[in-house]
Amino acid sequence: MKLTLSPTPKNLREALEIEGFRFPCGGKGVCGRCRVKAPLIPPTALDYRFFSEAEINEGMRLACDKTIGGAMEIECYMQKAPAPRKLYDPTVSAVLGGTASEISIIEDGDIIETLVLPTPKPDTIKLRSLAGKNAVELYEKYGVAKASTMLVAGTPEIMEAFFGRGADISDYSRSGDTVEASLFDMPSEEVYLPPIPNGYMGSLELLELDGIPEGSLLILGGKAVKIIYKGETVAPISALPMEKAGESEARAVYAAIKYFGEQYDFSDIYLVGKLPSPIEARLQKGGIIYKTQESAATARAAAALSDNKFKTRLDKLARKAYALDLSEEERWQELLALS
Ligand code: FES
Repeated sequence: MKLTLSPTPKNLREALEIEGFRFPCGGKGVCGRCRVKAPLIPPTALDYRFFSEAEINEGMRLACDKTIGGAMEIECYMQKAPAPRKLYDPTVSAVLGGTASEISIIEDGDIIETLVLPTPKPDTIKLRSLAGKNAVELYEKYGVAKASTMLVAGTPEIMEAFFGRGADISDYSRSGDTVEASLFDMPSEEVYLPPIPNGYMGSLELLELDGIPEGSLLILGGKAVKIIYKGETVAPISALPMEKAGESEARAVYAAIKYFGEQYDFSDIYLVGKLPSPIEARLQKGGIIYKTQESAATARAAAALSDNKFKTRLDKLARKAYALDLSEEERWQELLALS
C-alpha cells in the first residue's frame, strides 16, 4: 500500500500507528515484520539484520527505528491492527524459534493476532512462561477465558527444554501428540505437539518444510543454518553450527548445497530467515540462486489447529525424515575441499 506521510510526527512508527498499522513485536526490533520501501531513509544496523544487501539497495527498511525528516511517499507492507472483538472458540499457537517466538490467537484457521517476542535461552520455566503469559494476554484482549487447544512447536533444542528436565524428545517424536495442558502448565485444556522427526529437525522445521514445494531445498537461516531436502521419499537434513559464520562456515554451506544438488537434483531453493553475510556472499559468488520466503510456521500451525487432515500430513512428512550428518559423508568432504 502506498502512503504519503506528513512531516509530523517525525517518528515513523508513530506515523504508521496513526494510520492503523501494527508492529508485531511492539517495535523491539525482533520480528522484522514492519517492512516498508523507503529508499530516502538511510538504512540502520537493524535493516542489515533482516534484509540482504540487494533488498537494502532496493529501499527496503524496517519502520520501527526510523525517523522521517519531512513529507515522503513510502510503500508499506505491514498489516493493519485487527479491530477489537470477542472470540468464542479460539485456539492458540506458540511457535518457538531460535531467536524469535510467535504466540498467536486463531479462530477457524484464521490468525487473529500474533505477538512476536525474543526467545529466551532454552530453559523450561522461561519458555513455558513466554508461551503461557502471552497466550493469557491474548485471551484477555479477545475476551476469552481459556483456549481449548494450544499448539507448541519449536526447534529440537527448544522443545527439549520446554518439555523439562529428563525429557527425551524421542518420546514425543514421529507422530504428533495431544496431551493434557497441565503437563506443561499451559493455559489451555490440551496441548498439541506436532511431530519432532529427529535431533536436527524439530516441529518448527517441519512446519517450515511443509511450506515449500515437493522436490525443493529449504535453507533455514539463524544461529545454526539448516538445510533440508523435501523429496518424494526422503527429507534429509543437516545442521551447520554458525557460532561465528566466517569463511569456513560459508564454504561448508556452499559445499552442502552442492552435495544436496548431486544427491537429489532439487528444483528450487527457498531461504527462510537471514543468512550471515559471508555465507550470502559465498553463495552469490558460486552462482547459487535462492528465493527468500517469509516464515510459514505460524500459518501452518493455524492450519493444523483447524484441520485434522493437516496433522496427518505432518505425520507423513515427519516419517520421511532422517538425520544426515554431513561430516560423515565423504563426498561432502571432497566438495568442501574444492570450494
Ligand atoms: S516491529 Fe518488530 S522489528 Fe519492527
